[in-house]
Amino acid sequence: MTMTRRTLAATALVTAAAPTLAQPRPKPLVIAHRGASGERPEHTLLAYREAIAQGADFIEPDLVATKDGVLVARHENEIAGTTDVAARPEFAARKTIKTIDGEKVEGWFTEDFTLAELKTLRCRERLPQLRPVSAAFDGNEAIPTFREVLDLARLEGLRAGRTIGIYPELKHPTYFGAIDIPLEAPLLLALRRARMDDPKAPVFIQCFEAERLKALRPNTRARLVQLVGADRPEMVTPAGLKAIAAYANGVGTDWSLVLPTVDGGLGPASTVIRDAHAAGLQIHPWTVRAENFFLPAKLKRGTGPAEHGDAAAVVKALFAAGADGVFTDFPGLAVRVRDAG
Ligand code: G3P
Ligand code: CA
Repeated sequence: MTMTRRTLAATALVTAAAPTLAQPRPKPLVIAHRGASGERPEHTLLAYREAIAQGADFIEPDLVATKDGVLVARHENEIAGTTDVAARPEFAARKTIKTIDGEKVEGWFTEDFTLAELKTLRCRERLPQLRPVSAAFDGNEAIPTFREVLDLARLEGLRAGRTIGIYPELKHPTYFGAIDIPLEAPLLLALRRARMDDPKAPVFIQCFEAERLKALRPNTRARLVQLVGADRPEMVTPAGLKAIAAYANGVGTDWSLVLPTVDGGLGPASTVIRDAHAAGLQIHPWTVRAENFFLPAKLKRGTGPAEHGDAAAVVKALFAAGADGVFTDFPGLAVRVRDAG
């Protein structure tokens, strides 16, 4: 059938007059903070695998580097809190004191160990009093490399029939740059090799250090997320968020900036989510933890600090306020809340 000029014009008119259909809001992401770190020692393949089994969309490795420049998953470069290094006589002489980002830290540091040496250590639970279930896995796991985390996500994704994203955080990048073991180059190389240097790839690169994130922008197409602690509220004002949007795709805030505690309970959501969206940023608050110890007074249940309170209320409120995702040590809990709502 041929279209006349009149029918073409009429079609154009109808198209122009059609109301814009609102896009359904994508389901918020569940980001497994250091893996399922409420139930397994953080930043182990065991913790990441458990997070994926619980339905997490993304797993989060914090990244530091070894003496030979290999990226490994640890929350900080000092490793006495999460490994058995202090009990290893062969490494006793490596104990030292350093100043990291202005803070004096005593212990053992990843940058003083080759990967082969680090691999002889065994991971343990950071908070055994609060997390005895996780501490039962002490001694089972080695420190994973970033490459191993990428491989795990790919293989477990294939097994589960869904995409598992990676949410790497550069830890102390200025410090590592200053000691000539930069974190950024091996991160970008690994992402390129994994074909993830792309805005559509299931990856977000996060960092607290704004200048390092800005410097990354011209060097990668992957999405960048500016982390903002509770001590930096000026970064999440409308003007602060607009400035972040000049180099990042999202913002990851302490959840208290989004949901202030009022009279020991959850207060009304702040305008931070709305303002982030207005600036064109996604927003992923952190970190929801189930133990009473981490919850506002009115959400605590039972008596002890290790008992679990109503963390589901926090997740529910964050999602209701429009958060695009949430970091949590208990990804199964967040998946249940999201999928029930
Ligand atoms: O990366 C989001 C959140 O993990 C930031 O805090 O200290 O747990 O890495 P941290
Ligand atoms: Ca982190």
